[in-house]
Amino acid sequence: MEEPPIPLEPKNDPFQHALANTARIILKRLLHFETLPSTNSYTKDRGAQGEQEGLIVLADKQTGGLGRLNRSWHSPPGGLYFSVLFRPKVISPAEAPLITLTAGVAVAKVLQTAYGVDASLKWPNDVLIENQKVAGILSESALLGEDIEYVVVGIGVNANSTLEDFPKQLHPIATTLHEVLNRNIDLPRLFSYLIGQLEYWYLRLLDKGFHAIAPHWRKLCSHLGKKVNVSIGKTQLIGIAKDISSDGSLILKTPSDQIHIHVGEVTTPIKFQEN
Ligand code: BTN
Repeated sequence: MEEPPIPLEPKNDPFQHALANTARIILKRLLHFETLPSTNSYTKDRGAQGEQEGLIVLADKQTGGLGRLNRSWHSPPGGLYFSVLFRPKVISPAEAPLITLTAGVAVAKVLQTAYGVDASLKWPNDVLIENQKVAGILSESALLGEDIEYVVVGIGVNANSTLEDFPKQLHPIATTLHEVLNRNIDLPRLFSYLIGQLEYWYLRLLDKGFHAIAPHWRKLCSHLGKKVNVSIGKTQLIGIAKDISSDGSLILKTPSDQIHIHVGEVTTPIKFQEN
């Protein structure tokens, strides 16, 4: 049996202070680790053990960070890596992707407002600056019968890392806040802004539904109305990204059809073509 990870002492932890300094409704409990394989995996285990909604799990680095579509998420020190446990009572399993889109709005708004960068969203969950990925979101749900038992929303932000910290193949498609702003980012402050926005937009989703989030998502999206490639497994589609629908799927107009894509990603890499 593996030794369980031990969280850092909360008393003098700047991340605990940053969280405590802003009143929170549900996101109040933080476990901060020096290192974890994956904050998502750890939080899923806690969810399966019956942990209450609102737990935040943060790690300074991850040794097995998880990305979407079975990819890994490179997690060197200097980045911000955390996961949040939600138990959304009014969201059905089919609506779970809306939580990821909602989290994207929260992240992009923080980057735009607090850091003045031109952050945008690429369906479904990439946060970009000048078409290079600065943050990613991985939501994983567990079901109980017809309901969601819990959802873990994991957020990774390339903050104080530099491109040298990443493998060469990521250099053309990734960026970090440090690279863009040419200065060091106060991670506890970034963390507290993200938690504040995540909680606000999540509660808004529960209270008002996705129609209260969708206009913000559309405004932040970099490719609506443009010609894009979408990969769905090994299949590539080309079409105009028309909109997102009420269930969070991407509406793509291909030369022959108009289709709703539920799982996949917009892959047109660096520059989007105008239609
Ligand atoms: C993606 O864009 O593919 C999603 C990346 C999500 C990475 C974050 S880092 C914190 C949390 N823990 C993980 O193992 N993954 C998510």
